[in-house]
Amino acid sequence: MARFVALCSALALLVQFSQCASNATNSTISDPSSYVNVFIGTTNGGHVFPGATLPHGLIKAGMDTDSPGNQAGYDANATYNATGFSQLHDEGTGGGVSLSNFKLFPLPNCTDFRACPTSMDSRKTLRVVLPDGTPDDAGSPGYFASNLSTGIRVELTAASRAALHRYTFPASSTLPRMIVDITNDGLNSNTEPVISVDPTSGRVVGGASFAGSFGPGRYSVYTCVDFKGEGFDLGSPVEYGVYITDEPTQYSTTFTQLYSGFDSEMGALLGFSPSSDSSDGTTTILARVGVSFISTDQACSNAETDIPEWDFEGVVTNARDTWNELLGRIQVDTTGVDDEITELFYSSFYRTHLVPANYTGENPKWESTEPYYDSFYCNWDTFRNLYPLYSLHDPERFAEIVRGMINIQQHEGWLPECRGATVQQYIQGGSDADPILGEFFVKYHGQAASLGVSSDNLFQALLVDGENTSTIWNLQGRLNTAWKQYNFIPSDLYAPGGAATKQVSRTIESAFDDFAIAQVAKILNQTDIANEYYSRAGYYVNVWNENVTLPGDDTVKGMMQPRFMNGTFNYTDPRHCSVNDPTQATCYLDATNHDGFYESSPMVYSLFVPHDTAKLIELAGGNESFVHRLNVMFEQHFFDISDEPSMQIPFMYHYVNQPGLSVQQARETMADNFNTTVIGIPGNDDSGVMGSFAAFVLLGMYPVPATQQYLLVSPYFPQVSFYNPAFNSTTTIKATNFQGNPANGTGGTVYIQNVTVNGQPYKSNCYLDWDVFQSGSTVELTLTDDASVACGDTADALPPSLSTGGFA
Ligand SMILES: *[C@@H]1O[C@H](CO)[C@@H](O)[C@H](O)[C@H]1NC(C)=O
Ligand SMILES: *[C@@H]1O[C@H](CO)[C@@H](O)[C@H](O)[C@H]1NC(C)=O
Ligand SMILES: *[C@@H]1O[C@H](CO)[C@@H](O)[C@H](O)[C@H]1NC(C)=O
Ligand SMILES: *[C@@H]1O[C@H](CO)[C@@H](O)[C@H](O)[C@H]1NC(C)=O
Ligand SMILES: *[C@@H]1O[C@H](CO)[C@@H](O)[C@H](O)[C@H]1NC(C)=O
Ligand SMILES: *[C@@H]1O[C@H](CO)[C@@H](O)[C@H](O)[C@H]1NC(C)=O
Ligand SMILES: *[C@@H]1O[C@H](CO)[C@@H](O)[C@H](O)[C@H]1NC(C)=O
Ligand SMILES: *[C@@H]1O[C@H](CO)[C@@H](O)[C@H](O)[C@H]1NC(C)=O
Ligand SMILES: *[C@@H]1O[C@H](CO)[C@@H](O)[C@H](O)[C@H]1NC(C)=O
Ligand SMILES: *[C@@H]1O[C@H](CO)[C@@H](O)[C@H](O)[C@H]1NC(C)=O
Ligand SMILES: *[C@@H]1O[C@H](CO)[C@@H](O)[C@H](O)[C@H]1NC(C)=O
Ligand SMILES: *[C@@H]1O[C@H](CO)[C@@H](O)[C@H](O)[C@H]1NC(C)=O
Repeated sequence: MARFVALCSALALLVQFSQCASNATNSTISDPSSYVNVFIGTTNGGHVFPGATLPHGLIKAGMDTDSPGNQAGYDANATYNATGFSQLHDEGTGGGVSLSNFKLFPLPNCTDFRACPTSMDSRKTLRVVLPDGTPDDAGSPGYFASNLSTGIRVELTAASRAALHRYTFPASSTLPRMIVDITNDGLNSNTEPVISVDPTSGRVVGGASFAGSFGPGRYSVYTCVDFKGEGFDLGSPVEYGVYITDEPTQYSTTFTQLYSGFDSEMGALLGFSPSSDSSDGTTTILARVGVSFISTDQACSNAETDIPEWDFEGVVTNARDTWNELLGRIQVDTTGVDDEITELFYSSFYRTHLVPANYTGENPKWESTEPYYDSFYCNWDTFRNLYPLYSLHDPERFAEIVRGMINIQQHEGWLPECRGATVQQYIQGGSDADPILGEFFVKYHGQAASLGVSSDNLFQALLVDGENTSTIWNLQGRLNTAWKQYNFIPSDLYAPGGAATKQVSRTIESAFDDFAIAQVAKILNQTDIANEYYSRAGYYVNVWNENVTLPGDDTVKGMMQPRFMNGTFNYTDPRHCSVNDPTQATCYLDATNHDGFYESSPMVYSLFVPHDTAKLIELAGGNESFVHRLNVMFEQHFFDISDEPSMQIPFMYHYVNQPGLSVQQARETMADNFNTTVIGIPGNDDSGVMGSFAAFVLLGMYPVPATQQYLLVSPYFPQVSFYNPAFNSTTTIKATNFQGNPANGTGGTVYIQNVTVNGQPYKSNCYLDWDVFQSGSTVELTLTDDASVACGDTADALPPSLSTGGFA
């Protein structure tokens, strides 16, 4: 397989690192990057980005391929050709292929300048294939390498707003050439391209307008590319010119003809004298690539500021150090734990910090000194568990993201929902910035001011989502007029923009969004508003039809269903959009349907009320019926971990005081779906959400977003710890009686019998409150092999629900 640069030997080839992953100890892991396998999920639909980036870097330099699944450019299947090495990507997305702008490409030895294959189809090249059939690629945090079948080695590394590429041409390459492709983004959507080549320095600047990938907007982006010989003076290019498709024109420095349409490709082709100094005859050319959403000038200054020294190893080292500092905030004790689990943990955790990307200083739409983050693709995916992971160890970053969201609201009127490449993308359900801001504020209201977040602005931004009615509610905001009038989103409401779909899932998600707003209002002592929003958080019951049953099992009774303005229900088969759907419908965004659900079945959505699971249990007919329903979810595969609405279902046994079953389901879900292979993710990584799910389960927790609670399952390590820089505190969770992790996820000494915090008995074996993490505590879990453990028998033993007393 495409190898990840890991462990001592491979790494030493690249850069000297003092610490390599070593055998089991609970000493600090100082180079967690050595455990990161960047290739997990890079074929078969994971759409993972394996290239070079800093945490949340704007620049994501990576290989693009001609794979049909090239949403993040790369594909680990060696069948696919490399088409270029581009600078911008998203992570794990579906939708159209986003970004992938400004592909560089090396040509070893075309016979003549004019004969060079410049178009993407002509130039594309297979990679070297290893004996096991996998491509000869390697990568680690901040670094990517590939050996092309043309004999050229390509290496990439990244600073914030510039990439550094290194192309090593073989000795047989008598006239090394480089293509700078201005027009081929992932969608082949460019208009208004510009380019300029400096014959003396070889600098290429250019840019174009491109289409957003999951919405109607367009964006402009610019680049600035310089070349330098490594170990020799590259001099001026010996050949240069602009090409259109497969026709390079020598000595042309710009393109002036009126350019129209999407068919033609345009870029620069430069040829250089080979190195005369190298001992083995190879020629190594560095390409420094700045990018800006503002201008070509800013692209050049970004490159000059970020990579002044052209020091490839130095940029790699800086990136790795930055990753290690971040990843090292969560430490795991690997004693008695298979290396694959540690690799799975740090690789999953790594992917949670690829996006949203820090575009601060690169927002073309308005001037502001506030941070600007982009690549929210989409909040619908990430609100459930990505941000609650940031709460544990990365509050400063989280605060910047929140500030950026509030700033977007102040300038565009609405909090972002789905956003990429600076443009709005399609909403999938509710307004899910609400639980993200709620998550931040519930955890950090005491530090909001020092983290630069204005409580007033945060609250005002939330109230816009909660009160105003959007006229383009497929891109922003909600239909609050209907929400307030009917207290659900009616099935026969045909909204402007034609987006009258997914009314039931919108209802359910809006209820949770309103819960998050209520949580913020409560902290701000806005009691009336809090009460109003807590009441709105209960509106999901208005789409609960008590009489609808699962076909074939009428003991699974009561379902979320579409409802008309006149109060009568329509009917959607509870199996709709599941693997058991007789009609095999999808429910994706493009499904113009009146079934009312987005990307998951009524069976799944009938369990999505994270703020009041106790009420759901009551609606479903009590504990026994509820456990039966959960069992049916798993036994009949309604549960679908590849799609976000299912994600919390394994943990719901907690609420019927049977946490052993949650541990069991969570571990089986991990064993069946997550591993360190290139197909080791169930479906798209979704901006790191699959990574976040896996990281949480391996750490032995699962969050309830916008609350103070983390549900406890058992960690895959005898000890895990979280360093929180905002509090300068470390919380350690120790698993006493840890005896390893059963391979197939079944059984073992993995159930929590008892919990103490700082030596004192804790109120519950099923969850931890935020103050445990805030103050920095030692949590001791006593494990047992008895799956029939309970949360405890005190009033506080079960995790909170609104209808049983609410959230402290
Ligand atoms: C790890 O343990 C194995 C077997 O116990 C031993 O051979 C190896 O040298 C150890 N490696 C390190 C880095 O300590
Ligand atoms: C881990 O550290 C603790 C002290 O914090 C120590 O008691 C324990 O023996 C260590 N475990 C191993 C495997 O080194
Ligand atoms: C690679 O892709 C090709 C073409 O889709 C497919 O036939 C082949 O099975 C894939 N190989 C692997 C290892 O998945
Ligand atoms: C890779 O490119 C070669 C020609 O360069 C072509 O024959 C082959 O079909 C390409 N592979 C794919 C998967 O498109
Ligand atoms: C150069 O071109 C020749 C003929 O097309 C080819 O056989 C050779 O492998 C090429 N060399 C490199 C380094 O690509
Ligand atoms: C985000 O980018 C800005 C501008 O480069 C920088 O000042 C800020 O520190 C970055 N944020 C983080 C958390 O690194
Ligand atoms: C809310 O009220 C409590 C109790 O009176 C007080 O401690 C807290 O500071 C108040 N919070 C705000 C934001 O005013
Ligand atoms: C469910 O059935 C009962 C008994 O027929 C009926 O009274 C009730 O109105 C029905 N509820 C709904 C939502 O249709
Ligand atoms: C309620 O509205 C739906 C959709 O317009 C319609 O089909 C149904 O007949 C209406 N039912 C009643 C009782 O008015
Ligand atoms: C009622 O549901 C069916 C099945 O999804 C759908 O075909 C029909 O259009 C819906 N009726 C209305 C009025 O929305
Ligand atoms: C890895 O997980 C995938 C599903 O996500 C599964 O298809 C594959 O068989 C697993 N591979 C191994 C080696 O466990
Ligand atoms: C953070 O905590 C450590 C150890 O508890 C202490 O040594 C250090 O001074 C603290 N740093 C700050 C900035 O308070």
